[in-house]
Amino acid sequence: VNVDYLSVVAVDLLHRELVHRHVPLDARSAGALDCAHRIADTLREVTEMSELRGRSVVGVSVAVPGLIDAPSGTVTRAPNLGWRDVPLRELLRARLADSVLSGATVLVDNDANLGAMAEYRFGPLAGLPDLVYVTGEVGIGAGVLTSGELLRGAGGFAGEIGHLELDPNGPECSCGRRGCLEALAGIGAILRTALPDLVADRPLSGKDVADLVEVAVERALSGQSTAVAALERAGTWLGRGVATLVNVVNPGAVVLGGYFVPMAPWLLPRCREAARAHSFAEEAGGCQVEPSDLGMSAASRGGAAVMIHGLDAGDLPL
Ligand code: BGC
Ligand code: NA
Ligand code: ZN
Repeated sequence: VNVDYLSVVAVDLLHRELVHRHVPLDARSAGALDCAHRIADTLREVTEMSELRGRSVVGVSVAVPGLIDAPSGTVTRAPNLGWRDVPLRELLRARLADSVLSGATVLVDNDANLGAMAEYRFGPLAGLPDLVYVTGEVGIGAGVLTSGELLRGAGGFAGEIGHLELDPNGPECSCGRRGCLEALAGIGAILRTALPDLVADRPLSGKDVADLVEVAVERALSGQSTAVAALERAGTWLGRGVATLVNVVNPGAVVLGGYFVPMAPWLLPRCREAARAHSFAEEAGGCQVEPSDLGMSAASRGGAAVMIHGLDAGDLPL
């Protein structure tokens, strides 16, 4: 899936949304440096909007669909953006140096990690300390909370379940390998198999994906067999991913977000069934798999929550 937009949300310290803008920005063709500049320039524009008049911006959280070294704010690799080793936080700070945002804290984190923080705070299972959030907007990624803390790992990449290699002979993945969970059950793969007449092999824009998800759901609702089978198959593969999570981190629940939510009626039963069949879920007292109710706003809400909480706790990198 092509990431061709930037979503900017401004909230106040009580998490009330003040601004929500969708800006076209093609991450792959613009390249990382240009993107960083465009992100910074968009942030400046937002600070000048009337909704923010009389307010000052204390922090900026950036959610990126990729592997992030959070302490330095570096994007180590983002398969769906085609980026490697991008010091995004430094680039943003440099570009914002002479602006009203020069004093703002800048955080960069993985989209699924921030989504998990939003689930922990605002989702249907808020407060559950061992919670995994699985995002389905771009690729597939997981934010893993154990005892209420984000699991990061040595290099910061914990939770990269989208690139579990489940079928060595499967379709090519955004990462260059074959048969990863994302290549089998990511939104691009789902749409390609559910709507072969509409998608074929063309690259999908963010808008295409949003529109096509609606068509896929409509067809599944009307019982069209290709669409139903595609969604159910993806659910089974997702269940394999959940099974791995169950055996490795033993979560209390797994929350599916993004485009998996409108597809949940077909995905979830298969996902739960496969998760049970391929893991110790039974022994673990069952494995709860639930749809998110945060829609597409999980990462931005989580980013704001992390920033606001960090400001309270005084533990943000400056
Ligand atoms: C990336 C993850 C990301 C996920 C969802 C995957 O392809 O490797 O880092 O969280 O997509 O955007
Ligand atoms: Na993650
Ligand atoms: Zn992959």
